[in-house]
Amino acid sequence: MNVDGTHYRSIWLNDDGWSVSVIDQTRLPFAFDVKRLTTMDDAAVAIRDMIVRGAPLIGATAAYGICLALRADAGDAAVDRAHAALLATRPTAVNLRWALDEMRDALRNRPRDERLTAAYARAAQICDDDVATCHAIGGHGLALIREAWARAGRKRPVNVLTHCNAGWLATVDWGTALAPIYMAHDDGVPVHVWVDETRPRNQGAALTAWELGSHGVPHTVIVDNAGGHLMQHGEVDLCITGTDRTTATGDVCNKIGTYLKALAAHDNGVPFYVALPYSTIDWTVRDGLAGIPIEQRDAAEVTRLRGRTASGEVVEVSVTPDAAPAANYAFDVTPARLVTGLVTERGVCAASEEGLLSLYPERACGRG
Ligand code: MRU
Repeated sequence: MNVDGTHYRSIWLNDDGWSVSVIDQTRLPFAFDVKRLTTMDDAAVAIRDMIVRGAPLIGATAAYGICLALRADAGDAAVDRAHAALLATRPTAVNLRWALDEMRDALRNRPRDERLTAAYARAAQICDDDVATCHAIGGHGLALIREAWARAGRKRPVNVLTHCNAGWLATVDWGTALAPIYMAHDDGVPVHVWVDETRPRNQGAALTAWELGSHGVPHTVIVDNAGGHLMQHGEVDLCITGTDRTTATGDVCNKIGTYLKALAAHDNGVPFYVALPYSTIDWTVRDGLAGIPIEQRDAAEVTRLRGRTASGEVVEVSVTPDAAPAANYAFDVTPARLVTGLVTERGVCAASEEGLLSLYPERACGRG
């Protein structure tokens, strides 16, 4: 997508042919900084410290992390060490494991002197594939927004509620949940987005609002607790969120608070869609509540807030008594029964095993 008239992806290979650049998402929306990654450790820190975040982008960064590790040592043991180190950075988004396994498969049984070239080629392919996949998700989601517009008699904008950031910053380009919104806007379908702030790290307020604003998409930031009220008053036509891991049976794990939005949507008859690429489906897990590790992050993310003062200084402040204990659960699981449909690169399906297998029949025999 464009930033001040220049096209960016969220990650790219530099002209030197080996180092990788990413947009430092911890600095947005107050500064647009690019960070250069030159070692596997740089990639691991970028993922762990959420300089990059969002399930598909975490996977893409890990893929290049393997490339950077290979520059130092292309042996089997070094590849295994890099795979383990990168996998340990964040536990919930399955795209991380998917991308690392793809990289290891691409290197398996290759002579040492061919590995580096093969790794960079596979990492680039993972990125290009993510762009194409998100573009296809956008097309299928656009049809849902058009339908909502028709239901509204084409008389007013379609109101979409989203949670966290599942835009181009969370992928390589386009986004998952936001791709249909960008396409609707670009195609002249009037759309307005309710942007959940998404405490504690405010990915909605900081990143989604920045993305939508940069693209000229009308939006309003709301506190995380406002969605239910808006749905009760007919102010939300549909919800679209992303996901960090979706089970083989359609349970959806996403940023903490997604479940509460799905409950409110269900109670109010508001369609609740989840947009995802195939790399986010964990075919090995059937029960999302039992089978998906939920990341718990530093309590300081709850007790402290970052913001910009009137004089332009970016500062952190405490929002709790100094001694207040805090817990920071980063994700939750929305049971499949609360999800109206899954929007994938292959089309829209029911959030169920049958629904997923109708789009991915090659999985019927299972890879385990
Ligand atoms: O903790 P984050 O910011 O990495 O969480 C991101 C999300 O929850 C997104 O909704 C999800 O990764 C889907 S991104 C296309």
